[in-house]
Amino acid sequence: ARAFNIVVLPGDGVGPEVALAAQRVLTCIGDIYGHRFDFTEHLIGGAAIDAVGESLPEETKAACIASDAVLLGAVGGPKWDGAPVRPEQGLLAIRKAMGLYANLRPLQVSPVLAHRSPLKKEIVEGVDLIVFRELTSGVYFGERTRTETSASDLCVYTVEEIERVARAAFQAAEQRRGKVTSVDKANVMETSRLWREVVTRIHAEEYPQITLEHALVDSMAMHLIRKPRDYDVILTENMFGDILSDEISVLGGSIGLLPSASLGANGPGLFEPIHGSAPDIAGQDLANPVGMVLSAAMMLRHSFQLEDEADSIEAAVAAVLASGAVTADLGGALGTVSATRAIVDAIRAIHWAAARHVP
Ligand code: NAD
Ligand code: IPM
Ligand code: MN
Repeated sequence: ARAFNIVVLPGDGVGPEVALAAQRVLTCIGDIYGHRFDFTEHLIGGAAIDAVGESLPEETKAACIASDAVLLGAVGGPKWDGAPVRPEQGLLAIRKAMGLYANLRPLQVSPVLAHRSPLKKEIVEGVDLIVFRELTSGVYFGERTRTETSASDLCVYTVEEIERVARAAFQAAEQRRGKVTSVDKANVMETSRLWREVVTRIHAEEYPQITLEHALVDSMAMHLIRKPRDYDVILTENMFGDILSDEISVLGGSIGLLPSASLGANGPGLFEPIHGSAPDIAGQDLANPVGMVLSAAMMLRHSFQLEDEADSIEAAVAAVLASGAVTADLGGALGTVSATRAIVDAIRAIHWAAARHVP
């Protein structure tokens, strides 16, 4: 049996509700496969501002760095809109402190779920893509200025920052359908011209067997809705990745379904759904737990190499979604707690069915 030290950062809004769902699912996986997951909760975001006056307390940062992996719910909310420190700063700071330069945001639309999207079934059926979003640089981390009459946000990328996330995307493409679409705004931005040059060179020198195409972000936003099945790995900078991944979530039917993994060169990863704190539904048992639960599966696969365990969570989620036992965002009647219970029950059912076939 293996024991894992997992830091949980519930955060704000629906964050604590979905973080609890992930812990319940992992505890079930631990029971079945004989692993111990030790969860330790720490403060981040608005909850941390309220408790100790800062969005990322030192002890939270230290605990994350010393952990085996971090699970994060969400941060932010209208309560802190006018505050001198914002909850979101804590999230950016922990990504930077842990060196999490690659943010993986996968989406698969199975035929049984295609009707959940507001787009036509024929368009979204069979979509299987993954966004590689650069996460620790760009306009999110450049110098900011503010005067009475103006404001500025500086966008900076170094060659090394582009190279490392590009390699991560090409390596993923090798294990998938062998295609990378790099998204930029090279017709306007200097950082995008550097981005395109570096991605082109890494491709030619190290991954010539992969198909590389470049796309401008504005037309990419259109193509993602018109012909999303054309894409395999989408590689892009920090802010474009943020925007395009929320757009992509519509293909799957709800933003509440999408997980993410944030990884660095080594050290622990951080796993969080792509959605935010959803203040409009917080505290009402309405949040879809699936994005958070699939993030926990990504943790098992990427941080702990527990492939079977990750597969069984993903299979259980697929079975539950196909059965129609879904939350309100997908037109169903289940709450966060009952949807989580349905996933846990499905994991046990799949496991028992498999166990019966063992001679
Ligand atoms: P949001 O993702 O929180 O919500 C957008 C819409 O999607 C809302 O209608 C919400 O109810 C719905 N939604 C989101 N998650 C859902 C789920 N699990 N189940 C069902 N419906 C869900 O985006 P927003 O409203 O623009 O932002 C709210 C706050 O969250 C802001 O303070 C923002 O900064 C923050 N935020 C945090 C993160 C993060 O912590 N990683 C990510 C995005 C936004
Ligand atoms: C996300 C969020 C964050 C981001 C915010 C809350 C800082 O939108 O994780 O997608 O922009 O990275
Ligand atoms: Mn976002």
